[in-house]
Amino acid sequence: MKWHIVPHFLAAASHVTARPLCDDEDGKYTIESSGVKAQFIAYGATLTNLFVKDKNGEDVDVVLGYDDIEYYPEDPGHPVYNSIPGRYVNRIGHGKYTIDNKTYTTELNDGTNTLHSGTNNWSYRTWNVTAKTEDSITFAVQDASNSSLGMLGLVEASVTYSVSNSTWKIRMEASSPDVKTPLMLTQHTYFNLDAYRNPEAVKIWNHTLYMPYSSRYLVADDGALPTGEIATAAAGTLNDFASGPDLPLGHAQADPGFPGNCGGGGACEGYNGYFLIDDAPEDAVVVSLASAFSGIRADLRTDQPGVVVYTCNWMDGTADLKSTQGTEENTKVVRSSCVAIEAQDYVDGINHPEWGRVDKQIAGPGDAYSWESSWTFGLL
Ligand SMILES: *[C@@H]1O[C@H](CO)[C@@H](O)[C@H](O)[C@H]1NC(C)=O
Ligand SMILES: *[C@@H]1O[C@H](CO)[C@@H](O)[C@H](O)[C@H]1NC(C)=O
Ligand SMILES: *[C@@H]1O[C@H](CO)[C@@H](O)[C@H](O)[C@H]1NC(C)=O
Ligand SMILES: *[C@@H]1O[C@H](CO)[C@@H](O)[C@H](O)[C@H]1NC(C)=O
Ligand SMILES: *[C@@H]1O[C@H](CO)[C@@H](O)[C@H](O)[C@H]1NC(C)=O
Ligand SMILES: *[C@@H]1O[C@H](CO)[C@@H](O)[C@H](O)[C@H]1NC(C)=O
Repeated sequence: MKWHIVPHFLAAASHVTARPLCDDEDGKYTIESSGVKAQFIAYGATLTNLFVKDKNGEDVDVVLGYDDIEYYPEDPGHPVYNSIPGRYVNRIGHGKYTIDNKTYTTELNDGTNTLHSGTNNWSYRTWNVTAKTEDSITFAVQDASNSSLGMLGLVEASVTYSVSNSTWKIRMEASSPDVKTPLMLTQHTYFNLDAYRNPEAVKIWNHTLYMPYSSRYLVADDGALPTGEIATAAAGTLNDFASGPDLPLGHAQADPGFPGNCGGGGACEGYNGYFLIDDAPEDAVVVSLASAFSGIRADLRTDQPGVVVYTCNWMDGTADLKSTQGTEENTKVVRSSCVAIEAQDYVDGINHPEWGRVDKQIAGPGDAYSWESSWTFGLL
């Protein structure tokens, strides 16, 4: 039965191209440039480690994650560490959306809302590796119709991560060849630019955040769902990160609104909301996150119209830090000790025609969805 060998050979060859070269000894894929070393796993297309230079020229791992890659699928908290939640990120209000006058019902996995498309979200899938070089890697996912409840039609997506000099670039493409469906993506990156090594400051509040084009933000209810209102933060107020480059994330800690600013019945301190990017020049830096302790500054450029900023209120101190982070005293991911910055379209814009984003958040046959951002690392 020699002819059996032929298909076997073909299968083996395609297997080789689909699972390439360069897994390192921890089971991670590594890409590297002069200023950045980034490591990934296929689960969630997740960034596990991101090493950049601090003010002493040392390599510092500035993102959250676990040493043990087997723990990502097991972690009960599942904070979506540096992965791609899809096909529609963040919240869908009351688990409902409408396309062409037909209303679809999605899974309520976050109070009375849907978060990250429900419990079968993309951050829970093992993606395929479809390309790999020394400085880039591409992951792909095929999301079958209704595999996240109420999200109909096949979606095919890919993310390419690449590094060059001191920049980490992320590019996503997606399509929905069969029907119109909600489609909105992000990279859910969590930072602590001190790698939890600042003995004086385990919390994130002393990192500075500058978003010069983002004085407007979406007002949200107690469940972090936008109400529809768009507000403007006056200089120096709770949600102001636009008026100057040196505002610490904790600049409004003394404001009576701070302990409940992200809802949770008044229990969510800090930030978990969406800031609009208005009138930014092409290729402008729209977010700068920095910390004096490490001296590292991270600059975001993006083609997206805003960012979610989440200051890790719901981290409960049970998760261990990676061995690349922390000190003898700092060993856990404690409350408010990191910040997630997620470039994306308006949260729940599919349910807010008044914002004019509905067409951007629904893709169907013939539409090519794309998303691009980059983080450039430098020193203060
Ligand atoms: C949706 O309903 C409105 C009002 O009934 C109607 O004018 C419109 O043509 C419908 N659109 C589609 C795509 O069916
Ligand atoms: C993603 O899906 C998993 C189960 O597959 C679920 O436990 C988790 O809560 C979901 N994530 C979010 C943020 O909804
Ligand atoms: C990976 O590719 C295989 C073969 O094309 C496909 O069956 C599978 O669904 C893909 N996995 C994901 C997560 O999309
Ligand atoms: C989607 O799946 C659910 C069960 O998970 C099922 O009840 C529903 O009918 C499905 N919807 C479609 C349009 O297939
Ligand atoms: C990378 O850095 C080198 C040396 O600093 C510079 O010559 C080169 O133009 C940079 N390349 C890019 C793509 O920025
Ligand atoms: C916070 O930053 C300020 C000014 O940048 C600095 O004086 C202070 O020592 C820092 N505090 C901690 C705990 O790092």
